[in-house]
Order: sequence, then C-alpha cells, then structure tokens
Amino acid sequence: MPTGSTSIPHSAESLRERLIIALDVRNATEAQALVQKIGGGAVFYKVGLQLFVAEGPRFVRDLVNSGKKVFLDLKFHDIPNTAAGAVKSAAELGASLLTIHAAGGTKMMAAAVEAAGKTGAKILAVTMLTSIAEAEIKELALSGCVEDRVLTLAELAKNSGCHGVVASPREASQIRKVVGGEMLIVTPGIRPAGEAAGDQARISTPADALRAGATHLVVGRPITEAPDPAAAAQAILKEMAMA
Ligand code: C5P
Repeated sequence: MPTGSTSIPHSAESLRERLIIALDVRNATEAQALVQKIGGGAVFYKVGLQLFVAEGPRFVRDLVNSGKKVFLDLKFHDIPNTAAGAVKSAAELGASLLTIHAAGGTKMMAAAVEAAGKTGAKILAVTMLTSIAEAEIKELALSGCVEDRVLTLAELAKNSGCHGVVASPREASQIRKVVGGEMLIVTPGIRPAGEAAGDQARISTPADALRAGATHLVVGRPITEAPDPAAAAQAILKEMAMA
C-alpha cells in the first residue's frame, strides 16, 4: 500500500477499480518502470496500439499475471469473423476490457460480444474518435453532426450487446440517457482540476466525468508524466472521491 492511500475515503478500493492508467509508452521497460512506481496505487492499466505493437501479447499476460487488470485498447474494425477471432485471442490473454469500432456495424459488434462469451472480457464500442471534428464528418460524406452520430452508434452498441462505450466525458451524460444505467461508459480526456489540457480538446475533471455518468476514467499523461506518478494517481483518486 503506497503512502497516502489511507487519506482516501472508505470507497478507495472501488474507486481504484474505476481508474485506468494509459501506458502510452514505447516499450515494456518503460511501462514496467511506471507500474512499479505507481505500485498499489492503481490496479487497472490501458495497453494501446503503440505498446502492444512494440511488445506483443507477452507484456499483457505478464501484467495480468502480476495481478493488474488490463484494458487492451486495439480498436478492432474488420469483418465479423475476423473481429471475433481477434477478440477471442485478446480475451485469452486475460484482458478485462477490449475495444471495437461501433462503425464496424451491428453484426461485427454482436460477433465480438459472442466471442468474448464467458471469458470475462467486456467489449467496449468506440463511437466516434474524439479527433474527428465536424469538418471531417463532411469530408467523409457522413450525415448529421458528431453528437448525433455518437448517440446513434452508442445505441447500436447497446442493441448489439456491447458491455460499454468509450466516450468523451462531455458526451457521457447524453450517452447515459440513451443506453440506460447498465452499460459501462469509459472516458479518456480527463484532466485534474487546474491542469493543462495538452492536445485534448474536450476535457473534464475526474469528479465531473463521474458525475456525468462515466463508470471508468482513462488517465494518461497527468499520471505518467508527473514527477511522482504514485502521488498523481492518489490525487486523482481523491478528486474522484469528491463526485
Ligand atoms: O494522456 P491522456 O490522459 O490524454 O491519455 C488519454 C488516453 O486515452 C490515450 O491513451 C488516448 O489515446 C486515449 N483516448 C483518447 N480519446 C479517445 C480514445 C482514447 O484520448 N476517444
């Protein structure tokens, strides 16, 4: 147990389960150093494309075997059979959360959910990438505005049996209305009160994101680039406790 954890209220354990730290680093050595530094202050880590492409499945297995939960964020988008195969392989690594693109369609989403089956892995649908702005919607010859598309895709994800969606914290409350109370809403774009946004445009504080209906927060640089990542994680857990 890291120093400082006792100052977090009694729900600290459940809050820790809801904080996912993004390991956006180049290799396993850097990732393991971070996990080591953060210690007992976090239980959930996101492994994305950069780290997975560099280090492969072994890193995920090792992290799971060390007692951590893994959100494997590889955003599958393929024909249903191929996406289902990828989900099966990822679930066998012990990942708790996996992402697919809702734009892959309901058949693909349903096949992914079925492939996750009883493995315990949960399928999150990515609605619209937060990097897509209104102008790009036109360029891609898509109809409607970003928010409409996000809500439509979230509803399709629900109807396809997905366990949750990834969304901007600013969209969380609208999505919650559309998908009801059960689905997971996992939000990146979190910045502690008073901290620089960096390249994130639509950000929220940890407490605001939870109030808007997020079930899990993905936090990268505010923790991984902090001089003391363990203390930064503790500070975010304290902010979450205020929600
Ligand atoms: O460093 P930061 O807290 O901005 O990291 C957020 C993490 O969430 C990164 O891994 C980023 O790729 C991811 N993400 C995001 N927006 C999305 C989906 C994922 O920022 N819509």
